[in-house]
Amino acid sequence: MTACQAQREAPGQRGAGLFFRRWLANPLQMGSIIPSGPALCRRVAAALRRAPDEAVLELGAGTGVIAQALLAAGVPPERLIVVEIVPEMAAHLANILPGALVITGDARALPTLIPRHWHGRIGTVVCGIPLVLQPRTEQARFIAAIEAVAPGRGFLHFSYCATSPLPARAHRLTARRIGWTPANFPPASLWRYEPLAR
Ligand SMILES: C[S@@+](CC[C@H](N)C(=O)[O-])C[C@H]1O[C@@H](n2cnc3c(N)ncnc32)[C@H](O)[C@@H]1O
Repeated sequence: MTACQAQREAPGQRGAGLFFRRWLANPLQMGSIIPSGPALCRRVAAALRRAPDEAVLELGAGTGVIAQALLAAGVPPERLIVVEIVPEMAAHLANILPGALVITGDARALPTLIPRHWHGRIGTVVCGIPLVLQPRTEQARFIAAIEAVAPGRGFLHFSYCATSPLPARAHRLTARRIGWTPANFPPASLWRYEPLAR
């Protein structure tokens, strides 16, 4: 894309174009050809649990559509943390999410990526990374990384599968489908996973 083309594109169009280009480059990492739609973003925001002094963490923030819905739902920007592995997308997120903490990195390294003062002070983790496309051992690494920074909180996860995208019992999690958004493309379910009581 030329600089002139970039200037002519509205932010939303730029996000969708960037998303599609990244899907062409690495479909397994992206898991979808387009960003989540407004109905799914609102559904995720409605499922937040957060005490006033806690943060919300989104993993795999892509072009920021869910992060923007979280802000619209009242999460203060200084309490929003997003992690994205693709540097070009993280740069885009930093532009559209002023005041939020945008971290470029692999969510499997969360304990080292998230500033220490937020460990244990994250009310909700939203995982947008397509875990269903990962082998079980890699899924376990993501789940352990989440548990390390947000112990006992579990995470929200959306998926286009008809059944749980994760083998919950094998990961010692409970799974509850808390939402279904047929208006999304593809239609998506929202799941809440929580650690099994020990
Ligand atoms: C299905 S997209 C979701 C994007 C956005 N949350 C949305 O709903 O439109 C998955 C995102 O996860 C990111 N991702 C994939 N693997 C990741 C990893 N290991 N760590 C951080 N982000 C990752 C991808 O680059 C992509 O932006």
